[in-house]
Amino acid sequence: MAKIVSSWNDWDPLKRVIVGRCDNSMIPPEEPATSEKVPVDSEMRGMWGLRPLATVERGNECLENLVKILEDHGVVVDRPTPLQWNQAIGTPDFRNDSMMTCMPPRDILLTIGNEIMASANSFRCRYFEYLAYWPLMKQYFDEDPEFKWTQAPRPRLTDASYKHNYYDEKISLEERLVRTANKDFVTTEVEPMWDAADVMRMGKDLFIQHGLTTNRTAMEWFQRYYPELRVHAVNFPGDPYPIHIDATFVPLRPGLIINNPQRHLPEEQRAIFEANDWQIVDAAQPAHTEPPALCYSSVWLSMNCLVLDPKTVIVEASEVYQQEQMDKLGMNVLPCDLRDAYPFGGGLHCSTADVYREGTCEDYFP
Ligand code: NVA
Repeated sequence: MAKIVSSWNDWDPLKRVIVGRCDNSMIPPEEPATSEKVPVDSEMRGMWGLRPLATVERGNECLENLVKILEDHGVVVDRPTPLQWNQAIGTPDFRNDSMMTCMPPRDILLTIGNEIMASANSFRCRYFEYLAYWPLMKQYFDEDPEFKWTQAPRPRLTDASYKHNYYDEKISLEERLVRTANKDFVTTEVEPMWDAADVMRMGKDLFIQHGLTTNRTAMEWFQRYYPELRVHAVNFPGDPYPIHIDATFVPLRPGLIINNPQRHLPEEQRAIFEANDWQIVDAAQPAHTEPPALCYSSVWLSMNCLVLDPKTVIVEASEVYQQEQMDKLGMNVLPCDLRDAYPFGGGLHCSTADVYREGTCEDYFP
């Protein structure tokens, strides 16, 4: 029996990875946590239903581009099993008129060492998304005797989990920024809620973004679950829609991070990196002024790269400034045409979840 699952960070040589699928994807109906994340001027406001088939097919083509690059570089690629996401769901605590998608896997699965844990997402429409990955989890479980197959405590997601009418259509960008600065988000603290894409893994340290998708109770839960690791809460006051750390603060290799220049990490949170001689470089400007149609994310998916090893990185093909910067930072850049997959939940890093990277748990911040 082989060792299949192990990963401690986002830069050690990647050997096995999950790449999502766009099949059957939905724009979910509005619910307490989702409307806060859709920009007020977005064409997605108030609409829900199946995403147009042509966009699903094109999104899947983009993901195939990524799969090909990965396989050409010797990485084993696994794929989830999509459900009919348009089904209504219910639990004893809530009902929702549909699910969403199995893109992106990075939001749902967190790999720490030999454990893959399904997350405790705050969107009701994502409550059953983990099922798309369960066939893979069973396969890893059968084939790797050390694999720990885990599900984080399921949040109940009752009305008590959210601040109701937290945002309305009239809220200004400035007011959103004030709330981000005050760490005042739509979720309450009645239970741990977190998206795996808010967790940046750096060996012995986990840097977790406190924002619209991950609350403080989750951080306390992480620290108790992993007493041997150090959990750091981070927040980025320049972000009016703070969700998921991987278009904001992105490590390329030990000692080097690219930082979103609009979303500054506060000085006191920078200190741990600077004290350990890590360089924090402002990321290049995105090549686009708008995200693609029907997309939840910002143009900063330009930064959402996938590091194959400390010298090699996959960057979206149209993001020429980001490619140029990575090249100057000494990385070998592999361009991948993926932009039409952005509407399904994100860029290159988002679209994947680590299964195996070489290397062990190191202490980068002794
Ligand atoms: N909040 C992020 C999503 C990152 C994947 C952004 O849109 O910039």
